[in-house]
Amino acid sequence: MNSPNSDAVVPPRHVAVIMDGNGRWATARHLPRAAGHSRGVEAVRSTIETCARRGVEYLTLFAFSSENWRRPADEVSLLMRLFVSSLQREVGRLVENGVRMRVVGQVDSLEPELRRLIRDAEDRTEGNERLNLTVCASYGGRWDIVQAARALAKRAAREGNLSAIDEQRFAAELAPAFAPDPDLLIRTGGERRISNFLLWQMAYTELYFTDVLWPDFDADQLEIAFGWFARRERRFGRVESTLSRP
Ligand code: IPE
Ligand code: IPE
Ligand code: MG
Repeated sequence: MNSPNSDAVVPPRHVAVIMDGNGRWATARHLPRAAGHSRGVEAVRSTIETCARRGVEYLTLFAFSSENWRRPADEVSLLMRLFVSSLQREVGRLVENGVRMRVVGQVDSLEPELRRLIRDAEDRTEGNERLNLTVCASYGGRWDIVQAARALAKRAAREGNLSAIDEQRFAAELAPAFAPDPDLLIRTGGERRISNFLLWQMAYTELYFTDVLWPDFDADQLEIAFGWFARRERRFGRVESTLSRP
């Protein structure tokens, strides 16, 4: 259960999560990796609901990376089937909870049935405003930077004007351009790395690493991360005494 004072901590506006450790969770219980992925879906549901309840505005979840295609074919196909069944089962709940869902990544590489369900989920939740949920699927930070660079280069060539390329216009071409940069990154599962997640957007994100495996990451764990975040002093390159200046 939540501690009585946990709601007193102001949550970050944008939380990004690398949901890692499903396989190890299952292996530790002598279960197939699939069991860990299924339990992982429950942690996704609880995280979405806690973020919605706590007033987080943006939640971005790393579900499947560009590099995860290198896993054995049966694990990839299991993950895709889980994505399909989660969409079939959970979208009604998202609608009820006021969650707007978007998927970003190389959606073209996903199967047609999954693409259809994604489109349907995005359409059905389009009017929701309580929590912006972004699921990164077949996503890689380098892929996103390259596709944005191509789009900008095309425009600069058309306009014959290199000054059409600046940080703001570059950021606007990135796939999750509708969201502000993440304030807090949570990575479960014990690794201290970024694994090609939101490379451009995490320039000033606070990085929280926990050994807790994703299927065990519950509302209490999320509150611990929020408490840690609330104690960070974000300087953005300034010195402490000037932090309140614009
Ligand atoms: C995260 O758990 C889920 C995905 C990457 C899709 P893992 O499957 O990476 O679990 P571990 O890291 O092997 O324990
Ligand atoms: C990162 O986890 C990707 C997702 C959680 C979707 P990985 O398990 O793929 O990361 P590495 O391979 O350990 O860096
Ligand atoms: Mg992993």
